[in-house]
Amino acid sequence: MRLLKTRVQDVYASSIHNTRTWLEDVTYWQDRPVLVTGGAGMIGGHLCSRLVDLGSAVTVIDDLSSGLKERVPRGIDRFVVASIVNESALAFAFENRPTIVFHLAALFANENSIQHPELDLEVNGLGTWRVFEAAARSNVERVVYTSSSCVSNLTEPTNLCTARPAPGARTPYQATKFLGEQYAQILSRRVSTVTLRLFNCYGPGDLTGRYRSVVPNLVDKALRNELLPIYGSGTDTRDYTYVEDVVDALLASASSSSISAGPYDVGTGVETSVMSLAVAIRRLCGSSSSIIKGSRRTWDNVQRRCAETDAAKNDFNWQANVSLETGLAATVAWYLDCTRVLEPVCDR
Ligand SMILES: NC(=O)c1ccc[n+]([C@@H]2O[C@H](COP(=O)([O-])OP(=O)(O)OC[C@H]3O[C@@H](n4cnc5c(N)ncnc54)[C@H](O)[C@@H]3O)[C@@H](O)[C@H]2O)c1
Repeated sequence: MRLLKTRVQDVYASSIHNTRTWLEDVTYWQDRPVLVTGGAGMIGGHLCSRLVDLGSAVTVIDDLSSGLKERVPRGIDRFVVASIVNESALAFAFENRPTIVFHLAALFANENSIQHPELDLEVNGLGTWRVFEAAARSNVERVVYTSSSCVSNLTEPTNLCTARPAPGARTPYQATKFLGEQYAQILSRRVSTVTLRLFNCYGPGDLTGRYRSVVPNLVDKALRNELLPIYGSGTDTRDYTYVEDVVDALLASASSSSISAGPYDVGTGVETSVMSLAVAIRRLCGSSSSIIKGSRRTWDNVQRRCAETDAAKNDFNWQANVSLETGLAATVAWYLDCTRVLEPVCDR
């Protein structure tokens, strides 16, 4: 295990740090009041850490339903442990007069929404509307809304990589993430808004669980030498995007003066089959796991998914920097450093 850890950390250290500062105007973020909804989440925690490093005055609102308080860094101004649906809690979260709101809080994701469709609507629909209304009342400068690549199914394909499935939502999550985009469109008449469609974000800090993403679930099983289950034939592709790249996109889109409301794809522009992903994870984990193919999930009919990267590059000078190999190495390194047993925490 020690040798494996050294090898994984070498890949990680070779290129992952020192890529970040080019995007960040430090003076822009210094002392800036910022609100992060879902700041205890996988992406929110990384975003808050970066904002604290940049000197922003960060408020987090998160009900810890799938988040962890340990992800929220020391040095934030205020941590409101409450639902975004709760209007008085939201008012308290806006007391700091944020100029930028990053709206990440959500019921995540497709499978969870199938099991809990009403909660999905309450959080991703009503909660999103209330965050946007509060932002408009507070005269914030910009709201950044994190939508999902799964919404691309519901709109016209934007590039050759994008699959052409039957139109229409397959899950409540797809529907409510699209609803959030529509609400952002409505809000944009009163407040500058940017919608980012995130493509399969992964990285350190993500936990395993029934409703969590493929990367942490495969890494966890590979490190235990358990079977690695993949859905379908293994040839379906996705665009796996490292979490610090996503944080770069969030910051760059929030501070850019030449941006439209979007939606912008936030992904690497590289397609990877789920079989290749499982093989890479198995190799990085030094695992003897076998890969087994299960039947395709009924709601998941998209065979290929890949970000169109030109718009983000042109409009807010963002592109992904971290290769899948490097990002996975960082993720595995984090798991190897984790001393406690990682049990699912978010089976709600
Ligand atoms: N991770 C991905 O691959 C991915 C892909 C596309 C879009 N997104 C979007 O990015 C955002 C962040 O995703 P993530 O991966 O960090 O998910 P996450 O589940 O780790 O984070 C979501 C956070 O929102 C909090 N939350 C849930 N309901 C809430 C409520 N009612 N009030 C307040 N807080 C609440 C959770 O406790 C959690 O901390 C989400 O909006 C998600 O839809 C993520």
